[in-house]
Amino acid sequence: MSLQSHVLAGERAHPGATGDFSWILSAISLATKTIGNKVRRARIEDVLGELAAENTHGERQQKLDVIANNVIKSCLGSRANIGVLVSEEDEEPTVLRTRNDGGRYAVFFDPLDGSSNLDVSVGVGTIFGIVRLPEGEKGGVDAILSKDSHIVAAGYVLYGSSTVFMLTTGDGVDMFVLDHSIGSYVLAKRGVQMPDARQIYSINEAYSDRFPQGVQSYLGWAHKEGYSSRYIGSMVADVHRTILKGGIFIYPVSSDRPKGKLRLLYEALPMAMLVEQAGGVAITESGTRILDIYATDLHERTGVILGSTQEIAYFQEHMNKSS
Ligand code: AHG
Ligand code: MN
Ligand code: MN
Repeated sequence: MSLQSHVLAGERAHPGATGDFSWILSAISLATKTIGNKVRRARIEDVLGELAAENTHGERQQKLDVIANNVIKSCLGSRANIGVLVSEEDEEPTVLRTRNDGGRYAVFFDPLDGSSNLDVSVGVGTIFGIVRLPEGEKGGVDAILSKDSHIVAAGYVLYGSSTVFMLTTGDGVDMFVLDHSIGSYVLAKRGVQMPDARQIYSINEAYSDRFPQGVQSYLGWAHKEGYSSRYIGSMVADVHRTILKGGIFIYPVSSDRPKGKLRLLYEALPMAMLVEQAGGVAITESGTRILDIYATDLHERTGVILGSTQEIAYFQEHMNKSS
């Protein structure tokens, strides 16, 4: 089954569905096929390397970051039901239309995650979250940051050795793989479930000295227990492995990054929804459920700990002992 027919079938099962999702998801599907194509041709076309410009976080933009951002915005920009787009690469949101003019959804996205890995041909990805905007809001930033806006769908595409699209609309996680020969995402697994436990941690351990005491204590324990370490440095790739194989992914706050590195709206929240829908847990180092955090700033950061239920429980034991 293709992604498109899967989404249409899901809508048919919900009487009163407006078809909004198929429109948004078909735009994301087209955008990610286009981005994937650019990623694969990166050594052939002149799309690699850094631009002189920095993004909203003071990070050097890769040429492909900018290309991917433009591709997503042009695909989503033509969908009548989207009110606002929020991208990692843009300081300000793109307001397309107000709620009263039919802009019922906001889409948050990290157009290219792990882009510093592009030069070495390591897996990168696109992350997105779709948020239903509250009735009566005028649109723009207020609507997105309102406590009445709810994430209703999330996903990512991993441009790895195969191109994988993981999607949740709140009813489990489905995995699609791009069949290049027909140009469609085809359903590979319905209802993906994370293993409850796996002795693998994924963390940039070189920063250990700067992590909270509880994280250091957890790592010391995991060493003694014989854990294995896997860290790619592309969140999409690290989270994808964690969902499929189990384990724990940790990007905590640190003394030099007191708010963490990863961004709440377009990195942490979509991944948290996917992980929970796959039967896992997604929290901050203080134990707050990521899906319960309300953003106060479009680009705010958060610590991210996600993974198998049992592995998160071990992690929390160490955090609780050290607090
Ligand atoms: P982005 O390329 O969108 O800026 O994201 C990079 C992120 C994420 O993919 C990864 O988990 C993390 O940066 C890696 O950071 P470190 O290099 O500090 O480990
Ligand atoms: Mn990212
Ligand atoms: Mn990015």
